[in-house]
Amino acid sequence: MSMKALILCAGRGTRLRPLTFTSAKQLIPVANKPVILYSIEKIRNTGISEIGMIVNPDNISSFKQALGDGSNFGVRLTYMVQKDPKGLAHAVKISQDFIGKDNFLMYLGDNLIQEDLSKFVEEFQRLEWNASILLTPVEDPTRFGIATMKSGKVVKVVEKPQVPPSNLAIIGVYLFNSRIFEGIDNIKPSWRGELEITDAIQFLIDHGDKIQGHVVYGWWKDTGRPGDLLEANRRILEDIRSSQKPDAISSNMYKMEGPVVVEKGVEISNSLIRGPVIIGKGASIINSYIGPYTSIGPNVTIENSEVENSILMENSTVRNVDVRIDASIVGKNATISSAKIKPKVHNFVVGDYSFINLS
Ligand code: G1P
Repeated sequence: MSMKALILCAGRGTRLRPLTFTSAKQLIPVANKPVILYSIEKIRNTGISEIGMIVNPDNISSFKQALGDGSNFGVRLTYMVQKDPKGLAHAVKISQDFIGKDNFLMYLGDNLIQEDLSKFVEEFQRLEWNASILLTPVEDPTRFGIATMKSGKVVKVVEKPQVPPSNLAIIGVYLFNSRIFEGIDNIKPSWRGELEITDAIQFLIDHGDKIQGHVVYGWWKDTGRPGDLLEANRRILEDIRSSQKPDAISSNMYKMEGPVVVEKGVEISNSLIRGPVIIGKGASIINSYIGPYTSIGPNVTIENSEVENSILMENSTVRNVDVRIDASIVGKNATISSAKIKPKVHNFVVGDYSFINLS
């Protein structure tokens, strides 16, 4: 049985406004790479190359622009539009023609997981389960789909329970055969008005289907909120083990400590960079301090400022800021600066839903 994958990217990303006014949340860069590419690579590493992308009418063009037909990433992408946010099960239903009779891996596009998925795919293909879901223990089970297990078998799943029967959250990775469509056709919208994939799985359990649960303990992040993105950024930067500095650094008087990846055409002068840090091509860092867990996108300028534990996207500028910038996300082409003239004032042009916290 051949195997396909489905990546769900139709969510509106309201908790990541204003970033999601101009970008799909799955295209926001973490360690200078869009979140979605980590998922595509994970899927490709299982041997699956046929991937369906469920997108929405507003973000489809940004996905096509960033990923095209997938050939640059070694996969084949087919785009399908989910017009209204009617739930994960509804998104799967839209893909029914694309999936056909194949087995498939379903991946929630804003999730990042450490675990390699090959063994789960291989096992699902070999054994005759109707579904297999990845689970992980969480501290706040009321926020997730929660599973109850008995000897490796899932005996109950419930979406965001007020009284959780366990602490095993359904993370955004599921393996299904075409039985799931039977489940989807037999469920009603939940209290939040969505067709829940959790309810479709419960339908299968109620009808005697075998559902396997795998508990995984590596890190996992649903990047739905700004703090989650920063944490994902830290986790990924943590994996940078050694420094890479191509010859293109034009610099004088700088110091680097810890692992720092510097791409081409970067200018650094009179600055301290303390890794793990990644610096995108064409960036300039002048008279500044860049602290651990910072991702600096292409063509970013940082001058007379201190930044750490932050994500600065393409073409943004930080200049003459006299308090260290920490735990911040700066969108493309944004500028944060301070004029050194009196009177000392704050002066903003702030987009809708922006968040500014002054010390
Ligand atoms: C969805 C699923 C939920 C799962 C979660 C993982 O929730 O419905 O079962 O635990 O993703 O991120 P949502 O993000 O739609 O609230």
